[in-house]
Amino acid sequence: MAETDKVTGYTGTAKLLHWLIVALLIAQFIFAWIMPDIRRDTPVSTLISLHFTFGIVILAVAVIRLAWRATHAEPPPDPSLPHWQALSGEIVHWLLYALLFIVPLLGWMDASRRGMPVVMAGFELPNLIAKGASGWGWTGDVHGLLSNYLMLALVGLHVAAALYHHFVQRDGVLKRMLPR
Ligand code: HEM
Ligand code: HEM
Repeated sequence: MAETDKVTGYTGTAKLLHWLIVALLIAQFIFAWIMPDIRRDTPVSTLISLHFTFGIVILAVAVIRLAWRATHAEPPPDPSLPHWQALSGEIVHWLLYALLFIVPLLGWMDASRRGMPVVMAGFELPNLIAKGASGWGWTGDVHGLLSNYLMLALVGLHVAAALYHHFVQRDGVLKRMLPR
């Protein structure tokens, strides 16, 4: 089974990590959109604190996922796929990986700059930049823009491609990421 898995699909761990991140991101966007607007002196409400916690969990899972990916190559593309589709899929996957690091780190930097504590399981995480540091105001703006626009656009493209392969091309691209 391990052998066929390697040839045709992702490992069970890669699938689990993929779908775990999808679930965490859905929750994370819901928190982001319903939490109060963060301005100077906004208190860290429960929703804001949940946004920070889930964001750090996403960052941690992304680290584990990248480590798994570095030691377990993506299965080779279906030979029937045109080269441009295999290549563009790979580029989108790497951009999504990059965002899974850049987005939470920028959010964490912005929280540090604003002096908002980022607490995980009762422990306050260190500040990434000094509270009130000048010249870092862009971190929060870029964090929101990358999430609300670039990440959602790439995920939209990624999901559209998966559905196109499944329902139009009727090949095995979606199936190799689905649980058996
Ligand atoms: C992948 C993980 C994350 C995603 C997808 C995400 C998404 C978002 C989005 C969409 C907004 C803008 C909300 C709006 O539309 O107004 C936002 C704002 C914010 N997030 Fe995150 N976030 C993530 C992780 C984090 C982390 C880890 C932290 C801090 C530890 C954080 C701190 C913040 C802060 C401080 C803001 C307000 C930014 C500002 O307007 O200055 N986020 N986040
Ligand atoms: C309902 C939503 C989603 C569907 C249907 C979906 C589907 C898929 C499929 C079918 C593959 C395998 C593609 C191939 O073999 O070429 C894949 C891989 C991948 N997906 Fe998604 N995906 C979804 C959401 C996401 C999200 C939200 C992210 C991250 C932000 C993401 C990141 C990735 C990455 C990085 C890969 C490469 C495989 C790996 O290294 O784990 N996907 N996805």
